[in-house]
Amino acid sequence: MAGSPNTASRVAGIDRQEMGRPLPSNPVKAMGIEFPNALGLSAGFDRTGALVPVLAGVGFGHVEVGTVTVPTAAAAIVEPARSGPRIGVNIGSARLGLDAHVIADYCARYRDVASSADYVVANLSSPYADRDGNSRQVDLLIRRLTEVRDALFRNCGFYVPLLVKVEGGVRGSPLPTAISLAKSCGLDGVVLVSSCTRRIAAVCEYLDGLALISVSGIATLEDAEARIAAGAALVQIYTAFVRGGPQSVRAILGSDCGAGCSGQ
Ligand SMILES: Cc1cc2nc3c(=O)[nH]c(=O)nc-3n(C[C@H](O)[C@H](O)[C@H](O)COP(=O)(O)O)c2cc1C
Repeated sequence: MAGSPNTASRVAGIDRQEMGRPLPSNPVKAMGIEFPNALGLSAGFDRTGALVPVLAGVGFGHVEVGTVTVPTAAAAIVEPARSGPRIGVNIGSARLGLDAHVIADYCARYRDVASSADYVVANLSSPYADRDGNSRQVDLLIRRLTEVRDALFRNCGFYVPLLVKVEGGVRGSPLPTAISLAKSCGLDGVVLVSSCTRRIAAVCEYLDGLALISVSGIATLEDAEARIAAGAALVQIYTAFVRGGPQSVRAILGSDCGAGCSGQ
């Protein structure tokens, strides 16, 4: 969604008087980072980061900006604040498929956004991009991205955790290749698009300590608690926030911030 934070807050139905109302925080640690709480806003709502100043007042523990596919969008992302939500940046490519050009696009976007991000997510969940967690060359994409992450750490001294966002697939089916490579290729975690708690639990067990961010179908505190009970470190909402605005955040964090959102 483009536009100024003021316009955007009206579009999102965010009443400025509601913003800034303090929500108690329950810090959660994931990927070596402390998050103010376990609830985040999923990618797609704020494609460029222009809304972060508005969203910072809503109570999210993190906001995932993107999907960023072009360098100009990455340039607009605001620096993460010392307080307020952590900023994830979700990256992709405007091209279809997963060939060498697309892999180069992902690597370029990682470099563009790394200094503005607390973590970066390589999006493999877009239904229109003709690529997913099982695409041929997904192993090469992950290896190249981890090389970029590690080179930036060596040369610039900052480590920005790298995750992939993938559809979880149906229970009992083989894990998507991108998930099966997560540990051996050195990813820091997975954003799993799935509402099946058994699938989430199975992926968490497989990831064996890597962070899992659960997204899809979360609207209530009970939904969020179930994902965390299944092993998710963090949860994200999209549709619930579009429909319910800040009230949807309070419904999950609750007046005492929701014991279920305090992580494990
Ligand atoms: C209109 C719309 C745009 C979206 N754009 C993106 C996007 O740019 N990048 C991305 O990773 N996910 C995108 N998503 C997916 C959401 O981040 C989220 O994974 C999905 O909506 C499931 O969560 P929910 O059930 O809370 O809506 C989009 C979803 C919708 C409905």
